[in-house]
Amino acid sequence: MIEDLTKTYETPFYCYDQKIIQGKIDFLKSLNLNFNYSLYFSVKANPNLAIINFFKQNNIGATVVSSGELFKAIRAGINPSNIVINGSSKNEFDLKYAITQKINCINIENIQEIDLIESYSKEKNLKTNFGVRINPGIDAQTIDKISTGKTGDKFGIEIEQIDFEKLAKLNYSNLKALSIHIGSQITNYNKLIESYIALIDLANNLKNKGFEIETLNFGGGFSIPEEGYKSLDFKMWAEELNKIMKNNNYKIIFEPGRFLVAESGSLVTKVNYIKKSGSKNIALLDSSFSEYIRPAFYNINPMVEVLKNNSQNKIKYDLAGGVCETSDFFLRDVELPILEVGEFLIFKNVGAYGSSMSSTYNSRPRPLEILFKNNDHRVIRSKDTLEDLCNNEIM
Ligand code: LLP
Repeated sequence: MIEDLTKTYETPFYCYDQKIIQGKIDFLKSLNLNFNYSLYFSVKANPNLAIINFFKQNNIGATVVSSGELFKAIRAGINPSNIVINGSSKNEFDLKYAITQKINCINIENIQEIDLIESYSKEKNLKTNFGVRINPGIDAQTIDKISTGKTGDKFGIEIEQIDFEKLAKLNYSNLKALSIHIGSQITNYNKLIESYIALIDLANNLKNKGFEIETLNFGGGFSIPEEGYKSLDFKMWAEELNKIMKNNNYKIIFEPGRFLVAESGSLVTKVNYIKKSGSKNIALLDSSFSEYIRPAFYNINPMVEVLKNNSQNKIKYDLAGGVCETSDFFLRDVELPILEVGEFLIFKNVGAYGSSMSSTYNSRPRPLEILFKNNDHRVIRSKDTLEDLCNNEIM
């Protein structure tokens, strides 16, 4: 399929295999979790309307972190009653918009957020469901830049700082949930279980004190295979989870992002030039960190394939992008068949936090996106035009 797409569309472009996304959904649903749970797709991983809508068609809700993501989730057809908002520093408009849309739950991460939730809900004569995101002080043992549950991190609130008496007594705000999310790309299932136990313990303690918590939001964070990272051991995860959920009847929410979409996505790019620089062979691509920033930002090594190349001879390349930044590299010293100018490369497993973290730096148009299934495909985002790059600017 990808080869055909390169004949019709100019690179770079993202493409997503719908069957792989479906496979991930089916896999999670096949795990035999024996308690009441719902899946909410973490929109930040891939906020394309077609992708969000695909989850909607599979009865999956949405977790958002901004009014923009909330707007897109609703536009994609998700009922607000199946949307949760998180966010370490929600703006006033984010909160007001979430309140008036009557979403399932607003998870607060700062004590002061509740003042606005209560006063605005009163003004609108609404009862708003909210949750509290806990910082459990757990090191998820993942990439440091995407670890969120350690003491000193900006996410969630330490339990000792939460006055549950006060939160449970509000007139227009209903304490409905507790939530936790200790990081992303987590390979050690024990760390996730540890965080769930912390949340269950807290909910049980609160129950003993007379507070009714209906929902526990266990966040996302499931790892996918990537160089240096293996995929989460779901068999053990599910087994342990079923054990700790025995005798509990909380409603559980999971908010996976990466797991659901990462492996479906490819970034297809072309070799523009090849040059030698000292001992290095540098292949300069038609994509850059504007289109895919994770290698430069997190120092990860994306999986790469050459689309069509029969050369048996391999040599080492540095794969560089086209923006004017020294750090704009996808991979260094990667062994590949001898490349030629015009040849296509595919970065694999980039369906999560790929397009969603792209920018127009160097005034590069954001790329085309395609969703395909078997031999059918459709464009789900057109490439920015040059005119788009001037949108909202006033001379
Ligand atoms: N729930 C909350 C509260 C989150 O903050 C996140 C992700 C998720 C769920 C979904 O996590 P996932 O299942 O995708 O691991 N840009 C980084 C990842 C940042 C994740 C931020 N939070 C990257 O490219 O690796």
